[in-house]
Amino acid sequence: MTTDTTGTAARDDESRPGGPADSAFVRACRRRPVPHTPVWFMRQAGRSLPEYREIRASVAMLESCRRPDLVTEITLQPVRRHNVDAAILFSDIVVPVAAAGVDLDIVPGTGPVVAEPVRTAADVERIRLIGRDDVDYVDEAVRLLVKELGDRPLIGFAGAPFTLASYLVEGGPSRTHAKTKALMHGEPELWHALAGRLAEVTLAFLRVQIEAGVSAVQLFDSWAGALSEADYRRFVLPHSTKVLTGLADAGVPRIHFGVGTAELLGAMGEAGADVVGVDWRTPLDVATRRIGPERAVQGNLDPTLLLAPWPVVETEVRRILEQGRAAPGHVFNLGHGVLPETDPEVLTRVVALVHELSARPVDRG
Ligand code: CP3
Repeated sequence: MTTDTTGTAARDDESRPGGPADSAFVRACRRRPVPHTPVWFMRQAGRSLPEYREIRASVAMLESCRRPDLVTEITLQPVRRHNVDAAILFSDIVVPVAAAGVDLDIVPGTGPVVAEPVRTAADVERIRLIGRDDVDYVDEAVRLLVKELGDRPLIGFAGAPFTLASYLVEGGPSRTHAKTKALMHGEPELWHALAGRLAEVTLAFLRVQIEAGVSAVQLFDSWAGALSEADYRRFVLPHSTKVLTGLADAGVPRIHFGVGTAELLGAMGEAGADVVGVDWRTPLDVATRRIGPERAVQGNLDPTLLLAPWPVVETEVRRILEQGRAAPGHVFNLGHGVLPETDPEVLTRVVALVHELSARPVDRG
């Protein structure tokens, strides 16, 4: 085995029965029979866990993302607690953008804040293309985690061009994405240059994670639901497609996620992912009709309902599993991330319930 093929070689080895590539999670992504419906939670690592808050009390967010020892520990915390079917790398969507030279910080209670928002072609030019050396701490963290996780798959991720561009153009979180939309329509060439550059950064960042051994990747286009389908198709779809189809030969399933995307599910399904994430607004059987039989779905419990009494949660989990049967593959998840005020014990109970209700004997052929 030569050094530069270690990632691929490791993955070949993992396709052995029972390895991460044969896990319920990866099998569901690939629309293959599963022993039970796999479940994980977006933002499962984070502020709902006291052990996470303890670590983060003395370390800033971006710094914690750059320390492989902390990334490893934080990524494993929800796995130990909840018995989820997959781990998700602890990082943030702005980590590769910071590595590309953009001056930004993650402000507690606010989110990413960019010192000098992107306004001109020169601003776009300053966003450097990145390679493994720029994010060596991510490469190292993934390798450590793959060893620690054994047969449990690790999900890598990145932000999609639109969601990243929104932070860069607005300078921080935005309810309306007004400046971003004004740029798209007012200076379409500049918009496409920015989104194209971000697609290249994202692709490079995901490739580093895949070469280091992640078993799947998720592209977060959290704010895509702010767009009409026409604008999504014209300004965003080509760039997200470049990222997702650019990984077609990488050998790992690709998940494409957004919030408020009921009207975009068909278009998002065309971008080249194996799995489309669905928020709580669209039942999974309806979503499946919109996305088509060629993709699995992921979702879609409303994260706020985890704060309701347990019988409410249980009824919702049953309904979602039932509606998920209409899809050619179903990964159970929330419709968006875990809220910080969520009782972690409820998450643990949801995992056990999903496993119990969906357990089935399976022909693994
Ligand atoms: O288990 C996991 O999913 C953890 C890994 C993770 C984080 N951010 C850690 C984080 C992931 C997958 C993300 C992705 C991310 N970051 C997205 C896409 C997912 C989504 O929720 O839509 C977006 C839009 C961001 C940008 C961002 N970073 C926001 C909106 C925030 C929250 C700001 C706040 O404090 O309310 C962050 C910070 C962040 N990223 C935290 C965590 C755990 C909170 C930081 C803290 O603990 O203070």
